[in-house]
Amino acid sequence: MASMQHWPEPVTPVQAISEAGFEKIPDCYIKPVNERPLNAKQAGNCTDRAKLVRVPVVDLKGLSSSNLATYQATVEAISTACREWGLFQVVNHGVNVDLVNNVKDSWRGFFCLPTENKQVYANSPITYEGYGSRLGVEKGAILDWGDYFFLSLLPAHTKTCYDKWPVEPISCRETTEEYSAELLKLCKTLMTALSMALGLEAEKLQEEFGAGDYIDVGFRVNYYPKCPQPDLTLGLSSHSDPGGLTILLADEHVAGLQVNKDGGWVTVKPAPNAFIINIGDQIQVLSNGIFKSVEHRVVVNAEQDRLSLALFYNPRSDVPLGPLPALLSLDSPPLYQPMTFNDYRMYIRKNGPRGKTQVESVKVV
Ligand code: OGA
Ligand code: NI
Repeated sequence: MASMQHWPEPVTPVQAISEAGFEKIPDCYIKPVNERPLNAKQAGNCTDRAKLVRVPVVDLKGLSSSNLATYQATVEAISTACREWGLFQVVNHGVNVDLVNNVKDSWRGFFCLPTENKQVYANSPITYEGYGSRLGVEKGAILDWGDYFFLSLLPAHTKTCYDKWPVEPISCRETTEEYSAELLKLCKTLMTALSMALGLEAEKLQEEFGAGDYIDVGFRVNYYPKCPQPDLTLGLSSHSDPGGLTILLADEHVAGLQVNKDGGWVTVKPAPNAFIINIGDQIQVLSNGIFKSVEHRVVVNAEQDRLSLALFYNPRSDVPLGPLPALLSLDSPPLYQPMTFNDYRMYIRKNGPRGKTQVESVKVV
């Protein structure tokens, strides 16, 4: 079995390869033909790049409206998006735009540091925390064209000291803490809306996730360097996020995120000042498949690098979660076997991103 203590091969930051200025990418980044971005079948009817689409946008102002019809229409819009897409964008989310820009600038600053300064934080597959370039520990795997920095924010006891946090840029720690505190408020608001959208009591989903400090929250900054042969590789291979909700801050100016919609890949066009909300596998499982986790991937390009920030809002990791009894009936038997999130996330941590095979592997047979 592959070791979960060490990476199977020495890790080279993709940014260092990119900055060396070769015309060709190393073989270990070349994807099989059927996974490449321009594969005609996957791009559906498009002849060139996958279509740039504006995925559903939900105005969250509606959730604080005293007008019941407005509130219900907002929940309805979220409900439809979670059933049909597994993702939506939110605007008027209440997170200060200066804070968003500051946290983005801080992390851009981190990735601008010399390689040696970043490698001080080199991560291992034990917790994934720190600076890294791969997901999964399979020897000889085809790698993705991206680097990242991963931090565990909650439960609180996983963060008793800041030794995994960058000391440079100086603003990084403070802005990340402020930003994640704001995003946690947004997650709670969304969890309530999702409960309502499933016809459950308002706090039901949040209770299932575990109250207060028990929930599990991770933060990942993705950095996708320029790539001389973007048609042969991916910044991040197809996957669904294993946890609950992901709040993604994507670059408004550099497209890269693609989602699988009805069997074809479409490229997401981020709305200004919006967050992208991904439904993760745990919500697919709890909702017994009523809500779908979104299968997504990232494409890269030769002209511009791209930075994205993802906050992963996950259930507490030590209690088995399965379909909610309130959503089951004779006609709707449970579709998934209960599992703890700790056990569940080992799949992607071991195997790397593999489409939606992870959630399919817990299906009741
Ligand atoms: C992720 C992810 C998308 C992006 O970090 O899980 O899917 O646009 N990121 O970087
Ligand atoms: Ni993802």
